[in-house]
Amino acid sequence: MPITTTVITGATSGIGKETALALAKKDHALYLLVRDMDKGETVKQELISASKNNNIYTVFCDLSDMESVHNAAQVLKTSLFSINVLINNAGGVFNQHQLTKDGFEMTFAVNHLGHFLLTTLLLPLLERGQARVINVSSNAHRFGKPMFKDLQWENTIYSPLKAYGVAKLFNIYFTRSLAIKYGPKGITSFALHPGIVNTNFGEGLGGTGKTLLWLARPFMITPEQGALTSIYLATASRIDAKSGKYFKNMKVTAPSARAIDEVGRNKLWDKSMELIQPFI
Ligand SMILES: NC(=O)c1ccc[n+]([C@@H]2O[C@H](COP(=O)([O-])OP(=O)(O)OC[C@H]3O[C@@H](n4cnc5c(N)ncnc54)[C@H](OP(=O)(O)O)[C@@H]3O)[C@@H](O)[C@H]2O)c1
Repeated sequence: MPITTTVITGATSGIGKETALALAKKDHALYLLVRDMDKGETVKQELISASKNNNIYTVFCDLSDMESVHNAAQVLKTSLFSINVLINNAGGVFNQHQLTKDGFEMTFAVNHLGHFLLTTLLLPLLERGQARVINVSSNAHRFGKPMFKDLQWENTIYSPLKAYGVAKLFNIYFTRSLAIKYGPKGITSFALHPGIVNTNFGEGLGGTGKTLLWLARPFMITPEQGALTSIYLATASRIDAKSGKYFKNMKVTAPSARAIDEVGRNKLWDKSMELIQPFI
């Protein structure tokens, strides 16, 4: 059987780590894109010893730094002919308004734009691998209201949860755009909500966010459970007809009304394309 080549971001903890472990056990060749190489190496060794799969590699990639994303894509392009599965899993919520070194708001950069650039740069490999692109979104997209005139939150009072909601809404827009634009070339794309999962997510939050997280903690599912929909989408057969859809508990579910708005979806595509041009 041909080996499935999978690239995953955010596999150093939580949902991504459990997803990577399950795929390692299914003998995928795994490329872990990590922002901390020491942590990445430790996780890689854990995955190898738990799965007996030696086909696991780390590549440095800080999604908040577009040059780093570009360099990671270059490494993959020189090492691989094709990619079968790309899991855009890394993400986070940030307590304060912060701009990255490229001038992007941190939530927007890490959850959306870094993955948008990575996926765009990898398109030739994804096409050759007839790949699935899996975007880990969140039900938090339901409180996201995009402000295309102020994507970097410079003239709007910053709210960590609102910024996160918008970024996760963008994951759904991106998924559908990819499915429409690249479906004819054999690429499929899926978005998902993993559940409310007990991971490192939200650790830096203060105020209301911290309280909400503390209240929710006893009801959270485990990272193993939270990884199930990502694993399903990476491995299930005959799901091509569901490309572009949003999943929860391994089933298609309806996202918010805003998430199916074509105008917003197209605006995001055009704006993101414009923003990544210097890094292509
Ligand atoms: N937990 C939940 O309840 C929940 C609910 C809905 C959606 N999600 C989504 O699920 C995904 C995984 O989150 P999680 O809950 O597993 O959280 P987590 O345990 O905090 O894991 C986040 C992962 O993203 C990586 N990451 C963060 N910033 C990065 C950057 N700048 N460059 C590269 N990698 C970066 C982290 O790397 P380090 O190890 O170096 O920090 C870590 O591997 C996220 O997209 C999150 O939005 C989570």
